[in-house]
This record gives sequence, structure tokens and C-alpha cells, in this order.
Amino acid sequence: MKPVRLMKVFVTRRIPPEGLAALARAAEVQVGDFRCMDSQDRTFKPHVVQAHPTPPSPRGRCQVERWDSDEPIPDKELERGVAGAHGLLCLLTDRVDKRLLDAAGANLKVISTMSVGVDHLALDEIKKRGIRVGYTPDVLTDATAELAVSLLLTTCRRLPEAIEEVRNGGWTSWKPLWMCGYGLTQSTVGIIGLGRIGQAIARRLKPFGIQKFLYTGRQPRPQEAAEFQAEFVSTPKLAAESDFIIVACSLTPATKGLCNKDFFQQMKKTAVFVNISRGDVVNQDDLYQALADGQIAAAGLDVTTPEPLPTNHHLLTLKNCVILPHIGSATYGTRNTMSLLAANNLLAGLRGEPMPSELKL
Ligand code: NDP
Ligand code: DGY
Repeated sequence: MKPVRLMKVFVTRRIPPEGLAALARAAEVQVGDFRCMDSQDRTFKPHVVQAHPTPPSPRGRCQVERWDSDEPIPDKELERGVAGAHGLLCLLTDRVDKRLLDAAGANLKVISTMSVGVDHLALDEIKKRGIRVGYTPDVLTDATAELAVSLLLTTCRRLPEAIEEVRNGGWTSWKPLWMCGYGLTQSTVGIIGLGRIGQAIARRLKPFGIQKFLYTGRQPRPQEAAEFQAEFVSTPKLAAESDFIIVACSLTPATKGLCNKDFFQQMKKTAVFVNISRGDVVNQDDLYQALADGQIAAAGLDVTTPEPLPTNHHLLTLKNCVILPHIGSATYGTRNTMSLLAANNLLAGLRGEPMPSELKL
């Protein structure tokens, strides 16, 4: 039998069972037989299974090493773990920059991220090195759009404040103007980024009786926009005319800080702002000022900078700001499917086959 080529794969976190099982099959070991780096004493556990009971496949197999924790791997351990790896399965919390790529070395051929967002990856550097990238579009679109609509309704109808009033005795009687918010019927909704998630949000909002959809992007998307009769407009026009604004674009140098003082000043005083994209699309100090001064009505954020947001952050002092801990894709089914897609992207890349979802670099 030909000698077996053993490829090293490093996984930066515990991942859901389906992805884990796919990697275990590739490693031809039982789930649980990975080499796991203990996050307490930072050593590999002694019961590591290197050899396995079945004969190695002639295609070669993987030696999978995984950071054995639900918490992010520290930078130093990541550098140590990735050294010599052929494949890296990472999460959006792992910054894959030049330094990490240097630490990985020349073996590294595939990076698979369990996310659709790729702003944590230094794509220019990755491309220069001929490394392929897998990511997880589509499978999280429904869950994220569902969360975006939930966050919009929670924010515009002031649900956290209302729940708190019930608990603290603030609910004294039914009063005509007490706890009033803003309704979606007959409103104008502006979507920044009518991509997969932006469209899925519009699709869900349409039955609420939205009068008009506006959207921005790098260029018009007439085909996608037709379903919602959405109008492509400039960012200032979207800011000025929308009753509700939802940010669903990717984070790029062009979108970083896009929602700033000027943007919030252009918005209606009664408008509600929601961001499910990335924290850095928003200038948070400018948002705080706009909310505190009554320049805009309210904001709902699923993403912030940094994450987690420190518990003493000034945005958390505001009643008209609802903040969630980046849970857009957080359903059991979606996270499981994301992990499987991430594992399959990685394995296809290592075999030199087309990936189910490869990012075009
Ligand atoms: P898509 O690639 O389908 O959509 C990205 C959108 O960003 C496109 O509509 C694109 O518009 C828009 N965009 C890019 N550049 C600009 C720009 N300069 N100005 C305005 N819009 C721009 O990705 P998805 O819809 O699948 O995901 C979008 C993002 O959502 C992800 O990158 C991620 O950051 C975030 N996300 C957050 C989640 C959460 O848990 N909160 C879950 C999943 C994703 P065009 O191409 O027309 O320019
Ligand atoms: C992503 O995939 O980019 C989200 O932020 C988490 O699912």
C-alpha cells in the first residue's frame, strides 16, 4: 500500500455535531478521538488517538486538532495550533492576518470559516499565498433575516421597556400615549445592502404592509429589487426618506463607518435604525449622540464594536437602544448546518475538489 499522506487540520473551537462528525469521518476516527488541546493547561490530552482501527484510505486522511473550548482561542495558542496545518477551520472571532499566516507556514492550503462574513480574513494576503477560502452563505440567510425582523419589531414597539415596566410596577393603567412606538404599516423601509439577507428581510417585511422599499449598494440590482418594487437610491436619500433603516451589507473598507453623524442627522427624528451586519459599519459614538439627543427615535443592534460590548458601555444606558449579542444565525439547525458546510468546504479544499461554497478571491 502507498504511504498515506497525513494532512493536519486545525479547528479553532468546539463546533456543532454535524461538522464535527464530517471531520471525524475524514480523520477515520470516532468523534471524540480528535487531538484536543485542553484550554486550561494548554496541552494535548494524553488519551489522544493517533492510530486508528481501520486501514488508512489511499487518498490520505486528516489529523484533526481542535481547541477544546467554547471560548475563543488565545492568539498565542492559535499560532501554535495552526503551525504546519494544511487546513484551518475558523470562526469570525479568529483574526486571520499576515502574522497568523506566517505562523501557519507554507503547508496551509485551505481556510474554511464558519460564517458568511469574511471581514476577519486578510483576503489580499490569503490570495497572494494561493490559499483557498470556504465560507457559509445561504444556509444562515433565513435565520438571520428572522432575527432582523424580530429586532426591528422589538425596537420600534419598545418591547424591552414594556416588559420592564410590567416587572417594576410602572404599569399603573392603560394610558392613551403610554409605551407608544412606531408601526410598520404604510411605512418606508430602507435596506443598506440588498444581498441575500437584505432580500430575505424585505420578503418577510412585505406582508406587514410596507408602502415603499428603498435600498443602497455598489450598484442597482434591478432583478432582485423587482420582487419588492424597491428603489435604488443614494445613501443620503435613503437616510432622509426611510422610517426604518436596516443595515445588511458586508463590512468592507467602503462600508466601515458608513452610518456616522452625517447619516444620523439626515434621518427622520421618528426613524428607527437596525444593524445586523457588523459593528464597524456604524460609528457608535455618533449613534449614541443621535439617540441621546433625540435625533433619531431608536436603534436595534445585533452587532457592535467590540464584541462583547463592555457592560459599562454608554449605549447600554439608553432606553431607546436594544442590543443583542450577535445572535443572527443562532438557531440549532442553522449553526449545525453551518458547521457541516464549513467542514465540507475544508475537506473538499484539501482534496483539491470544488468546494460547496468557495469565496471567489
Ligand atoms: P451578500 O454578499 O449577499 O450581501 C452583501 C451586501 O452588501 C450586498 O447587497 C452588497 O450590495 C452590499 N454592499 C457591499 N458593499 C456595499 C457598499 N459599499 N454600500 C452598500 N452596500 C454594500 O451577503 P449576505 O447577505 O449573505 O450577508 C451580509 C452580511 O451580513 C455578512 O457579510 C455579515 O457581515 C452579516 N451577517 C450577520 C449575521 C449576524 O449574526 N448578525 C449573520 C449573517 C451575516 P452590492 O453587491 O449590490 O453592492
Ligand atoms: C456570519 O456568518 O457572518 C455571522 O455574523 C454569524 O453567523
